[in-house]
Amino acid sequence: GITRHYDFNVTMANVTRLCGSKSIITVNGQYPGPQLVAREGDRVVVRVTNHVQHNISLHWHGIRQLRTGWADGPAYITQCPIQTGQSYVYNFTITGQRGTLWWHAHISWLRATVYGALVILPKVGVPYPFPAPDKEVPVIFGEWWMADTETIISQATKTGGAPNVSDAYTINGLPGPLYNCSAKDTFKLKVKPGKTYMLRLINAALNGELFFSIANHTLTVVEVDAVYVKPFTVDTLVIAPGQTTNVLLKTKPSYPGANFYMSALPYSTTRPGTFDNTTVAGILEYQCPEEPSSSPSFNKALPLLKPTLPQMNDTNFVGNFTAKLRSLATAQYPAAVPQSVDKRFFFTVGLGTLPCPGNASTCQGPTNTTQFAAAINNVSFVLPTRALLHSHYTGLSSGVYSSDFPNTPLIPFNYTGTPPNNTNVATGTKLMVLPFNASVELVMQDTSILGTESHPLHLHGFNFFVVGQGYGNYDPVNDPASFNLVDPVERNTVGVPAGGWVAIRFRADNPGVWFMHCHLEVHTTWGLRMAWVVLDGRLPHQKLLPPPSDLPKC
Ligand code: C2O
Repeated sequence: GITRHYDFNVTMANVTRLCGSKSIITVNGQYPGPQLVAREGDRVVVRVTNHVQHNISLHWHGIRQLRTGWADGPAYITQCPIQTGQSYVYNFTITGQRGTLWWHAHISWLRATVYGALVILPKVGVPYPFPAPDKEVPVIFGEWWMADTETIISQATKTGGAPNVSDAYTINGLPGPLYNCSAKDTFKLKVKPGKTYMLRLINAALNGELFFSIANHTLTVVEVDAVYVKPFTVDTLVIAPGQTTNVLLKTKPSYPGANFYMSALPYSTTRPGTFDNTTVAGILEYQCPEEPSSSPSFNKALPLLKPTLPQMNDTNFVGNFTAKLRSLATAQYPAAVPQSVDKRFFFTVGLGTLPCPGNASTCQGPTNTTQFAAAINNVSFVLPTRALLHSHYTGLSSGVYSSDFPNTPLIPFNYTGTPPNNTNVATGTKLMVLPFNASVELVMQDTSILGTESHPLHLHGFNFFVVGQGYGNYDPVNDPASFNLVDPVERNTVGVPAGGWVAIRFRADNPGVWFMHCHLEVHTTWGLRMAWVVLDGRLPHQKLLPPPSDLPKC
């Protein structure tokens, strides 16, 4: 591989959306941010310089970071933030991964505007395991708030209530013609008949799992989270925040005489409804072969067809889609699923409550003396004020974290029953320690406390295999019999089904401290997060590398 250098300057920029302008934090003045391109095996060196009045850190979502946890990026987990006027060089090598990933700010809610695509091409001369597309296009879903991000966060933290719902979903930063003042801010994919396009879909939205569809066209899924899958074709796909999906789009063989909306709609168990005029839309625009696309009359009068999307609360649709995902599991792209298990964990993930701090009138929890919280095994994780990785590396963890994360819920209960009987949440900075190379099985169970909801759980530093999923309470006696240990999908972010469970396996072959959290930003803020410590192995190449000299200090 070669070394690719990037300069990321964090600066303010004025951006106009939805009939108004505001100043936002960006990288290099771009929204969405610049695309990072590398090949498998390359070293990537990104110098990040902070020119804004807010601490920042950047995360390379899905990059394995083998032994280079210092470059992973979550603030207070693997590094202290980069302060105003300071720089930090993220330096990592892309090993055994190819496909679409992304990068985003990993502090506060700054990823609302600070994100971009991370495209990993295969090694030179290695073809895709599917027919080569004629063109590749990144398609990034996001969210836009008219209010200032800081205001939104403090609302979400204090009350858990409105207005932390965004004003628009976006495609490549553009809301599209169904929103006010936004016809000019529409993503248009100009295509020719009879070609194959590969869309690199990225869900960078803060809080929305999304359905995505293009009217009158099918999408063939070929890769998720930078791992190839057995191709399958759908009308509509599902993508959770944090996840990436490559799809092949075949255009009609001849000029169809129409243009087509591509639309994304949030999946929500609490907001039923269908396609409406607040849905983000882009346009698939066929370029008429007889007319140059520069012609003013081009495509103007064509009808615009809308896709049919599922109901917003269609949990079965989500389950059926994710059940189709399978690793290639070929000699060239094997699925290295751990066949035996050294460490077995059961984590409940869900919402809960904490006593309201201070003046109860500012709390909008289920009762006026409580605020919303979210927890894993009843622990609502509190970010430390010093970076966990450095504390671990120097052996100075006392006062920063404790190594007693519970491996089952503190009080077992009927997780999906109504009414729930365990809403207890305690705060803490607790970590789970794993020996090097342990083979881990983790079952994550959604709870119905305050309503069932799907949680896209993201694990830093690893890919994992999704060996099983189901609805209701996980049954440790009977459910493992149906686990797929042959060709389960391999990924870095998985949706814990609403009112159900998911089982994953991974090998703890990457020493360091690794964050795991719900990629719905509001749930992360409420505490649905924890971290793993993976100890060094005995051999020199099994140890975490020393920290870079420019590692930011707290
Ligand atoms: Cu994409 Cu910890 O995040």
